Amino acid sequence: MPGRIPKEFIDDLIDRADIVEVIGSRVQLKKAGREYKSPCPFHNEKTPSFTVSPGKGFYHCFGCGAHGTALGFLMDYERLEFPEAIEELAHMMGLTVPRDEQAERQAPTAPILDALNKAAQIYQRALKTHQPAIDYLKSRGLSGANSKAFGIGYAPGGWDFLLKQFPNNENTHDQLLGAGLIAKRDSGGYYDRFRERIIFPIRDSRGRVVAFGGRIIGDGEPKYLNSPETAVFHKGRELYGLYEARKSLRNIESLLVVEGYMDVVSLAGHGIHNAVATLGTATTADHLKRLFRAAREVTFCFDGDRAGRDAAWRALRTALPEMRDGRQISFLFLDEGEDPDTMVRQHGAKGLQDALLNKVTLSEYLFREVGEQNDISSIDGRAAFAEMARPLIDLAPEGVFRELLTDELARIVGLSRDKLTVLDTRQAPVQRRPQKAGRVASRSTLVRHAIEIIINNPETVANIAIPEALHEADLKGLPLLLELIDIINNKPGILPSGLLERFRNKPEFPHLEALLIADSTIIEVTQKEAQLSDCFQRIIASGRKQRFAELVSKAGSPEGLSQDEREEFKNLSMLQQNTD
Ligand code: CTP
Ligand code: MN
Repeated sequence: MPGRIPKEFIDDLIDRADIVEVIGSRVQLKKAGREYKSPCPFHNEKTPSFTVSPGKGFYHCFGCGAHGTALGFLMDYERLEFPEAIEELAHMMGLTVPRDEQAERQAPTAPILDALNKAAQIYQRALKTHQPAIDYLKSRGLSGANSKAFGIGYAPGGWDFLLKQFPNNENTHDQLLGAGLIAKRDSGGYYDRFRERIIFPIRDSRGRVVAFGGRIIGDGEPKYLNSPETAVFHKGRELYGLYEARKSLRNIESLLVVEGYMDVVSLAGHGIHNAVATLGTATTADHLKRLFRAAREVTFCFDGDRAGRDAAWRALRTALPEMRDGRQISFLFLDEGEDPDTMVRQHGAKGLQDALLNKVTLSEYLFREVGEQNDISSIDGRAAFAEMARPLIDLAPEGVFRELLTDELARIVGLSRDKLTVLDTRQAPVQRRPQKAGRVASRSTLVRHAIEIIINNPETVANIAIPEALHEADLKGLPLLLELIDIINNKPGILPSGLLERFRNKPEFPHLEALLIADSTIIEVTQKEAQLSDCFQRIIASGRKQRFAELVSKAGSPEGLSQDEREEFKNLSMLQQNTD
């Protein structure tokens, strides 16, 4: 297991990467003014709308909305996970990725992976000599080739089948324990975890076996037994079948998330290779990130019963914050007693494909569920509908998707969008002072506008003075603004892409990315600098106004103002007079 890649190396690599070179070595780019163009590699088109901007270190397709940095391109185009993309980028630039020695010592997972890999081979071999297990798989419609593609095996009965195949020493036992393959007896000694079970190896994104699922042959309890959480296996992260799907499909358009191992394997046997399963857990944000890493469209397949609907609703809530533009989610509800495996066995691949025509999009599902709980034929019902939908919509990141949901909500409840924003739960301050409508909005737009200028034109920050008073204002988004300024000051010449990459995997990432895409203005840098200076002054004034109002309200309360606050109040009122 390699150690961690030092952060400084990653930052430096990203700052030095040439996006035209990275993309140009995979896609034929043509120079067009300050930018480069080509037909988009992510969708089919004749006229080139895929644009690479070396000045920003960013690419964007005006046709399908694909976008990102050089690193993001490698991840999306080559379907690489972050560390692999870093490796590739370093390789292109003739560099070797350094690893943190210390982290290496803290990650003693190599022996565990080794044991898991050996066990997978042992189980696979054992399947060949256990006819009842083979018969069972055949009775479930699996072919030999199909089983092989998933590395399916068999754990024979007895308590020490696996144990006996490994050396009998404490070191090995620790290894097998760490891998979750054996358990300790109360009376001393060990025993195999998996016995008399069909074995499904669970592989990580690189194809390494990190855990097993075991199904009993025929009836019995528990039907499925899984590996425990170990140093290499976290249920909430892995998706069964994703590695296999990526291996058999060059380009995964959409992924189908089903509930069970057998569903995944059975669908693959019927030529449907894009199914994956969560491992008996609810869908997590981690799952969604990995799903969208591999495909733009994800369809969840749930049972039509109560449990299935609850699981679907939980998946919706988890998915909303991940709904960046261009991502699509839908839901397919099956009839009770059906699962994808039974469907393809009874009606073939077409049976499932037909059922998929009835899938509902995330927004259809959201409004349908909210609608079931509120009767929109009455005014009260419409108000309740809006109040229930609003916080859900607010889970979605800013962008086209959220705008469309808001439009749809406005349409359903028959209100204009302006009226709806009065219900906006995101700006529910503890004490809301009466103030002119639009104030709060204009303030947050100020900071947002400054951030937009900075992320698109980091050079502006180097050329204008950053007023000290900016640090005193207490406005939403300001910490991010200051962080950006800090990064630029420490790295003059940084590109927008470099700024953005420093926020990868942080909550701010999608917002910053959206601001980067939204900007298409072509005005001179000096003009941007003037705008930014002006923004700073207005942010400071706005912060002071807000603080002043707080002090006014506190002065009127029984608590009154402290000595320091009275001093502050005096200063602020003088400053106010000067600026008003
Ligand atoms: N599961 C589990 N533990 C159980 C039951 C189920 O971990 N005791 C997980 C497994 O990942 C299983 C999935 O939930 O694949 C779906 O379970 P279920 O619907 O009960 O089984 P099926 O997938 O339909 O299995 P089969 O078709 O083999 O009966
Ligand atoms: Mn089943």
